[in-house]
Amino acid sequence: MAKATGMLFNFVQILLLLLLIISVADAGSIPLGIGFKTVVCNKVYGAENGDTCSTVSAALNITPDFFGSINPNLNCSNIFVSEWLCINGTLI
Ligand SMILES: *[C@@H]1O[C@H](CO)[C@@H](O)[C@H](O)[C@H]1NC(C)=O
Ligand SMILES: *[C@@H]1O[C@H](CO)[C@@H](O)[C@H](O)[C@H]1NC(C)=O
Repeated sequence: MAKATGMLFNFVQILLLLLLIISVADAGSIPLGIGFKTVVCNKVYGAENGDTCSTVSAALNITPDFFGSINPNLNCSNIFVSEWLCINGTLI
C-alpha cells in the first residue's frame, strides 16, 4: 500500500515536471503567476488608504487566495496608497 502510494506520487511528480517543461516552452514570456499559471489582468484599481488584501477581496467578493493569485507580486503586508491592484484577472 505504502509502496503503491509512493509510485503514484512519483508519477504525479513526473507529470508535473513535464507540464512545467511544456508550459515554459510554450509561454514565450515569463509566467508571472504562482505555479504554472500566467496572470492576465483585466482591470486594475489604485489602492486607497486602509485597503488590505482581505478588505479588497471581500469587496470584490473573491477569496483572498484568488486575489493573491491575480496579484502575484503584491506584498499584502505593505500595500501603499495608489498602488495598482489587479481586481479582475484570469489565470491562463
Ligand atoms: C512585505 O512587507 C513587509 C513590511 O514592509 C516586509 O517586512 C516583508 O519583508 C515584505 N515581504 C516580502 C515578501 O517582500
Ligand atoms: C472580469 O472581466 C471579464 C472580461 O472583461 C468580464 O467578462 C467579467 O465579467 C469580469 N468579472 C467581474 C467579476 O467583474
